[in-house]
Order: sequence, then C-alpha cells, then structure tokens
Amino acid sequence: MISIKNEQEIELMRKSGKITYDILMKLKDYIKPGMSTKQIDEYVHDYIVSHDAIPSFLGYEGYPASTCISINDMVVHGIPDDTKIKNGDIVSVDVGSIYKGYHSDSAYTYIVGKVDKKTEKFVNDTQKALYKGLSVIKSGVKLNEVCKAIESIAIENKYGVFDCLTGHGVGKDLHEDPYIPNISNYESEKIILKSGMTLAIEPMFSLGTNKVWLLPDEWGIVTRDGSKAAHFEHTILVTENGYEILTGE
Ligand code: MF3
Ligand code: CO
Repeated sequence: MISIKNEQEIELMRKSGKITYDILMKLKDYIKPGMSTKQIDEYVHDYIVSHDAIPSFLGYEGYPASTCISINDMVVHGIPDDTKIKNGDIVSVDVGSIYKGYHSDSAYTYIVGKVDKKTEKFVNDTQKALYKGLSVIKSGVKLNEVCKAIESIAIENKYGVFDCLTGHGVGKDLHEDPYIPNISNYESEKIILKSGMTLAIEPMFSLGTNKVWLLPDEWGIVTRDGSKAAHFEHTILVTENGYEILTGE
C-alpha cells in the first residue's frame, strides 16, 4: 500500500527535508582530507538534534550511526569510523532526519580535492540520473518511467546498476512502499504515481560491475570489482503537474 500524505503531513516532511538538505549542503565545505568519517557523522548528528529532529538511521534495525558514509568502491551503508578522507576520494553521505514523526532521506556524493576526468564525469552523471528520473514524475505517470529514465543514463555510459539497491516510499517510516529500482522492471510498470505520494529516488551507479559484496559488518556494500560508486538521493512529493523536492531548495 502506497500512502498518500495530507497537507499537514507534507508540511512536516518539508521541514524534515530542509534539515536533511541543509546539513548535506554544509558538508560541501566541511569535508576535508584528513578528517575521519566518524567526525563527519558527529557533525551531522549534532546538526540534526539541534534542529529539533532525530537522525532517522540511528538505531534503525540496529544501525549504529546517524549517517552512512561510503568512500570510493563502497556503494552504500558505510558505517562511520576512524577511516580518514583522502584527497581524490569520492565520498557518498546519506542522511535521514525525523521531524515530528516524518522522515526525509537524501544523499550526495562529494568529490574531495582532485579526481580524474572520468571519475568527475561519473559523479556528475549519477546526479544527472537523479534529475532525469525526477523530470518524468507527475500524477498519472507509471513509476517505471522513473526507473527507465534513471537507467538510461547508466546504459548510455555503461555504468553498473545494482538490482538489489533501490529507492523507496518515505514518510512515517524511513522505508515505505513502493520499491523504486534504478532499472526498468515489471512491478513498477503496474504502479501509477498519484499526487501526495512521497518517494526517495536514489540512483546508485558504479564505474564497473553491477555486482556487490556485503562487508562482514553486515552493513557496508562494496562493488565486487573495486570500481568506484556514486549515490544521489532526494525525497520528493508527487504533485498534479510534477514534483516538489522536499530535500532541496
Ligand atoms: N537511505 C538509506 C536507505 O534508503 C538508509 C540507510 S538505512 C540504515 O537504504 F539503516 F543504514 F540507516
Ligand atoms: Co533511501
């Protein structure tokens, strides 16, 4: 069942989304080589709690931190620790906040210092895939149009896409129906978007394989071939004529 949010709920999700967005944008200047991922996590945690919100991820199915920080070949769910950020890393940070019971979920991949042209294009293309996916959203459209739009960028550039890692509905819970794969699929063909749905759209691509390993910590997910991965995510509201980004300007 895909929930439809009312105007009051949407307003709370806007507030939640703003907190999540603002801290992700602050990280553009905050993240520096030499810093540990734990330090970034603490910074995000403090920002969220000082804005009357709760970190969505902390304690979620036992997850031990407020962010997921995934460097280079790590795709998602990196647990912050003593690992130090280095010049030339690509660092994906995933953040969720709960404001008065409503979740927002967003991710951004930061380029630290200088990377090669191919990596830079890859990160930009992953972000482009997010906006291409969003561009087709409006009430009455099949969810699979979103999946196809995201996948088209991966196909065009021969990036890896992971069928086990998907976007999702979001709201009262961090993960609500429906699953939103980054690949064209039969299930999404049967789902029609309606205004009032709130969705987390999140392309995750690699520069190589579409296969991943789960790390022994049972959270971290890395590419099997060690190729770099990027991840961009927004929480959005489906509207009559389009969409509103709840984790954006
Ligand atoms: N945004 C992540 C996702 O949708 C949330 C991570 S869940 C956590 O999968 F448990 F790792 F926090
Ligand atoms: Co998500």
